[in-house]
Formats: sequence, structure tokens, C-alpha cells
Amino acid sequence: MTPRNPYLAIERGAPGRIGWRIHYFDEIDSTQEAARELAASGADQGTLVIAERQTAGRGRMGRTWHSPSGVNLYTTIILRPPIPLADVPRMSLVAGIATAEALEREAPGMVALKWPNDVWLRGRKAGGIIAEAVTDARQNLDCVLLGIGININLAADDIPADLRDKATSMRIATGHACDRIAIADSLFNLLDSRYMETVTRGFDAVRPAWERFSALTGRRIAIVDGDRRKSGVVKGIDATGALLLDIGDRVERIVAGEVSVEGAYE
Ligand code: BTN
Repeated sequence: MTPRNPYLAIERGAPGRIGWRIHYFDEIDSTQEAARELAASGADQGTLVIAERQTAGRGRMGRTWHSPSGVNLYTTIILRPPIPLADVPRMSLVAGIATAEALEREAPGMVALKWPNDVWLRGRKAGGIIAEAVTDARQNLDCVLLGIGININLAADDIPADLRDKATSMRIATGHACDRIAIADSLFNLLDSRYMETVTRGFDAVRPAWERFSALTGRRIAIVDGDRRKSGVVKGIDATGALLLDIGDRVERIVAGEVSVEGAYE
């Protein structure tokens, strides 16, 4: 039996608009895979998948994404942006803006973005974003599977032991349970407008909105990409979404890597 879809109430608009069609699953391996199948069968932009629980939720860099049932938001949105393959990572920054703006309404002053795509509440990770590109036979971009996971009502006791000092949720940060459907509704509305703004005016138009939430600007960080490690002070991001790192004698553009913040984050 198909489960009742509590997100039907927030489906909105015509094909192309983010959230015009919401496919809902009680349990799934990963919303990324369900969205991949829908995209392959021609689903319009803005079609999205939400699951109550993922048995094989995927994070960045081959990690798993802890996806217990009934407490969080796990969603993948199909986008068909008219951009080159190389620009796909910017879509995760755009999703970061919309996620931060949606959470900010419920948790004012607590939200920050850690480049490239971690969402923090009071200095701990509450959300993550991946943007997976699907290409055609000629390696042109067919679509982007934009995956967003947000810990909403996850209780402290339900955070796996190895993540306990790094992860949080809206409920832990604010001290009260939050309405997942209302957060999803804000997220999809904000993402639709930030996405349209980016497609029509370019990433530079939304860059100040990302910078407003930047957890790293002005901080000394270390960044590891494969076997390369660099450290310096973050100056912000540039018009392409690259991190600008002052390494002493010059400012370097960093396009990928795992960041760690030197010194405690308040
Ligand atoms: C990260 O490592 O920070 C990115 C996490 C992305 C998790 C989301 S949950 C919905 C979607 N489905 C997945 O399997 N992963 C993404």
C-alpha cells in the first residue's frame, strides 16, 4: 500500500517549479536513487522525492548519512539547469542559502554555512547537501540531483556515538520540536526563488546571501584535498563559489576539499 503523503499539502505550482510534484516514501535506500530513476524516465524539473527513512543515505565523500525514521527531512530535488557540468557544485551552494534561510526563520541567529555545503546550528552540523550530476552520452549535463538532509527533530540520544560532539538538530538547538512540513515548505519556496535568481542572473547575484551565513570567513582553517593540505585565513567565496584562502603571501582559490576550523568555534 502506498503510504499517505503528508507533504501533498505543500505541492505547489506547475511543472518546473521546485516542489510541483512530491514523491513520498516511507522507507527507501536513498532519495538520490529514486530521483535518478524518475529523472531517467523524464520527470520535469522541480520533481522531488522525500523519504521518512533511508536505509543507505549517502553523504559526501562516500560517507553514509544517518537517516532514522520520522524525525528528519531527507529530500532530493531534480533540477535541469542550463549550465555546464563544471558549474554543478554551485547548485549545492544555492541549496545551502535556501536551507540556511529556511532554518533561520525557526532558529534566528543560530544558523551558519560551512563551505562547501554543511549547515550548522550553534557550531554543529545539522544538515548536509550533495549535488550529483547526471550526464548524457556526450558528457553534457542532463540534470542535477540535489540532495538535502536536515536533522530536525532528532534527539541527542539518537545521534550515533561517533558523531555526538559534531552533530545537532533543530530540536536540540532550539529546545523544542519543529514542524517538518512547514520547514520543507519554506525550504522549497526559498530554493525555487534562489535557484531562479541564479539561473537568470548568475551565481554572483546570490553570493552575498551565502556570505551572510558564512561560518568560515575571517577564520583560520586547514583544508585537505587528497594528499594536499593547506592552511590560511578565509576571505570568503568568489563569483564561481570557490573558497578564497589567504595563505600568507597570496590568496588561493580552493575548489574542493575537507575543511577543519583551527581553534574552537563559538
Ligand atoms: C553531506 O555529507 O553532508 C551530504 C549529506 C546529504 C544527505 C542527503 S539526505 C537526502 C539525500 N539522499 C541521500 O542519500 N543523501 C542526500
